[in-house]
Amino acid sequence: MSIPDIIIAIDGYSSTGKSSFAKIIANEFSFLYLDSGALYRGVTLFAIENGFISDDNTIDVPGLTLALEDLDLHFGEGGTYIGERCIESEIRGLGVAGKVSPIATVPQVRDYVDRKLREFGSAKRIVMDGRDIGTTVFPEAELKLFMTADPLVRAQRRADEMKAKGDEADLDAVLKNLQERDYIDSHRETSPLTQAPDAIVLDNSHMTMEQQLEWLKDVIAERFGE
Ligand code: CDP
Repeated sequence: MSIPDIIIAIDGYSSTGKSSFAKIIANEFSFLYLDSGALYRGVTLFAIENGFISDDNTIDVPGLTLALEDLDLHFGEGGTYIGERCIESEIRGLGVAGKVSPIATVPQVRDYVDRKLREFGSAKRIVMDGRDIGTTVFPEAELKLFMTADPLVRAQRRADEMKAKGDEADLDAVLKNLQERDYIDSHRETSPLTQAPDAIVLDNSHMTMEQQLEWLKDVIAERFGE
């Protein structure tokens, strides 16, 4: 099926399969896929490695803000990069996951990431996933999805994904992390995770990826007249 040049914004809770679904959409309709969470994860790795966040998650906001001016975080071959260094595998572990939501509450960090994300907006035909894409980054997106699923289903999926990559994954630790992130993400002051009024909810607790894609095609046919 064909689809017009639009922006598709996918927001929702942690580990609801937003990025897996976004990649499939990108492939199916020849859209550019952008993972906004990867940029928050990249800033978090940078903050950890440079001592801007402590073990108890206290953040040196002035120090980090200044350092962001020179941080060359970008997407490249195979994922996310800082300068020439591919950081894709480091940013996916629990070390970064345990600190990313506190880092993502910092307004200066959000400004930094938003500036990078909006640069892509002129391209259209993009699908971007995150927490505030349909509300803050691209409120004008023509199609907004809000994804949710049962927390235990989400934790199991994320643990399986980590194990498939050869990483250790304790189900309880993964569940605790995603619940903590959901709480912080939904309660922060700047651009909290909320459903945009014009977003369509997708609860995929009991859906396969194929079923999700069929569901989306129906939505698109209805919305864009195919
Ligand atoms: O894939 P997963 O659901 O684990 O999360 P992610 O998309 O990689 O995002 C990691 C974290 O970055 C989230 O828990 C949020 O704290 C933050 N984030 C955000 O604040 N705003 C976004 N647009 C995307 C991510």
